[in-house]
Amino acid sequence: MAFSCASSLSVFLLLIIYTSANFNNEFDITWGDGRGKIINDQLLTLSLDKSSGSGFESRNQYLFGKIDMQLKLVPGNSAGTVTAYYLSSKGSNWDEIDFEFLGNLSGDPYIVHTNVFSQGKGNREQQFYLWFDPTADFHTYSILWNPQRIIFSVDGTPIREFKNAESIGVPFPKNQPMRIHSSLWNADDWATRGGLVKTDWTQAPFTASYRNFKADDACVVASGKSSCGGSSGSQGWFSEELDNSKQERLRWVQKNYMIYNYCSDSKRFPQGFPPECSMP
Ligand SMILES: *[C@@H]1O[C@H](CO)[C@@H](O)[C@H](O)[C@H]1NC(C)=O
Repeated sequence: MAFSCASSLSVFLLLIIYTSANFNNEFDITWGDGRGKIINDQLLTLSLDKSSGSGFESRNQYLFGKIDMQLKLVPGNSAGTVTAYYLSSKGSNWDEIDFEFLGNLSGDPYIVHTNVFSQGKGNREQQFYLWFDPTADFHTYSILWNPQRIIFSVDGTPIREFKNAESIGVPFPKNQPMRIHSSLWNADDWATRGGLVKTDWTQAPFTASYRNFKADDACVVASGKSSCGGSSGSQGWFSEELDNSKQERLRWVQKNYMIYNYCSDSKRFPQGFPPECSMP
């Protein structure tokens, strides 16, 4: 009896370890003078008030991975606030994969802004509304980054795919390890209705919450060596692509929820669209 009790306890503990990584081991709060907090290892909160925002970054550096995080965005009147959640390397030729959540007045929709930088060059914005209220509950925001593609997903639904277009001369992020970063800050000069709606500081502090971080399927780079988790074979995340049903979901999002796509902004690119825009 004693034995089976102990073994089911250890199964239970293993489940806890595998279902969500613990925040104290994975992340450092990097700025905000106490406004970023890790609570019981399982919940992280960032807050913003008139004097400062806050932010955190991952201890690990990743070179490819499938990375999930659940976020609950600033509720109520979040106009002027931006919650950024992204992967980024360092230096002037940095790579970056961005989710940014632009707040709004109560009841008005957040904008999910996405971008991909390779070797210091971005300008590849796509923006979306969501099909749910992202402040009412936690939702999963995922980045799949493998050598062929970057896929942004929300609750398992792909919203954007950025394909490797090196064959037509577009650099793809594949050599620089990146850390996960997140921050909550004031951007009322541009974020909400292009800067028309300002942050209402009587509503401060503004708070965004994070839980259930998962990066089991990822390659961690430490002292120049990369070690990959999960199945990185031909069936695994390292070569994963969108199957037919996911492609259909992606088209549904792009048709109904996409509000900006740099690849169709002809005013911005009078000399012709960037080459990756013509990838099928
Ligand atoms: C905020 O709401 C307005 C009005 O519905 C909308 O035009 C805008 O796209 C929304 N989002 C942001 C971040 O401005």
